[in-house]
Amino acid sequence: MKKAMVVLMVMMLLCTSLFAQGVQEDGKQFIGLAMPETHVERWQMDGAALKEAALALGYDAEVTFGDADQTKQNAQISDFITKGADILIIGSVNEGVVTAVADAKRDGVEVIAYDRLITGSDQYDYYITFDNFKVGQFQGKAIVDALDLESATMSDPKFITLFAGSPTDNNAFFFFDGAMSQLKPFVDKGVLKIVGPAPLSSDDTANFTRIATENWRADLAKQRMENLLNGDAKNYTLDAVLAPNDTLARAIIEALLTDAKYRTALPVVTGQDGELASIQFIKDGKQTMTVFKDTRDLAKAAIDLADALLKGETPEIAGARLDTTTYDTGKKVVKSYLLEPVNVTKDNYMEVMIDSGYYTADQIR
Ligand code: BGC
Repeated sequence: MKKAMVVLMVMMLLCTSLFAQGVQEDGKQFIGLAMPETHVERWQMDGAALKEAALALGYDAEVTFGDADQTKQNAQISDFITKGADILIIGSVNEGVVTAVADAKRDGVEVIAYDRLITGSDQYDYYITFDNFKVGQFQGKAIVDALDLESATMSDPKFITLFAGSPTDNNAFFFFDGAMSQLKPFVDKGVLKIVGPAPLSSDDTANFTRIATENWRADLAKQRMENLLNGDAKNYTLDAVLAPNDTLARAIIEALLTDAKYRTALPVVTGQDGELASIQFIKDGKQTMTVFKDTRDLAKAAIDLADALLKGETPEIAGARLDTTTYDTGKKVVKSYLLEPVNVTKDNYMEVMIDSGYYTADQIR
């Protein structure tokens, strides 16, 4: 009897320690995939592609979405840790994720920051994303070209209004600064006039906050555009609106279309993500461009990185540039893998978005 008890206890202990090491019932290792939100379409694509890539390499994987609520996402991450996750891939909502990252580290679970840098933490080593500054450069350059700012004169300047992404998302600063790297020379020359708050860099925190859009919420961007149309922009005809992503671009366009002045001729409006509805807008001439960041590539690269780390191998991520100097969390510089974004307009959306199999031709009217 005593012997049986001892055997049982040893077995229980063994189970607990296996569980703590993350060995799942089926013997596979487990990757927790914590995505920030679903109201921006891309994250659903990211979630699906990450899971598919993880399963293809023989891992167990589960995706969660935080509904732009960091408390909720932290609970999801904590759940992954309890379930014995071996590694976590996190697209965070905001800096509040650091406590969850610290918990993971304490339990020996490595974290990869996915698309969004996790600021304020030194408890993780790897970040995988797109070249975010370049995304903004494409947006700024699209405005420069569409308005032919090179030939614009001070006596006939062009007018622009600026929008930025969430002030709690490190990417928003990169997008904006990338765009302003293209636009500022023309503002300085006096041929491009900013209507409304006018930060020339994200370092101008007071003004940046005024153009930023909390949690990338479309309703807030629409509201702000409406307010501008009735306020600062009332006596101007805008030639361009810098919009940081497609979700916000379409909300801004909706607001513009409520103003008779813009119903026949919309300003140049930028975007990002290659969302289906925005590809339709580009085809219809309502939105000028988007920047496509192929979530299939990012997901595949992130899983390859996780795979290398789990196997204790040196990561070699095809198609990504290793950057060991740019991305500073405020506590340390993390090793970052950057993928290339693609500029998409009316001229190449077929090739980039459809021929690549991201969408099917019948999804566009
Ligand atoms: C991503 C963008 C996305 C935005 C809103 C950013 O961190 O890089 O692709 O549009 O978040 O979800």
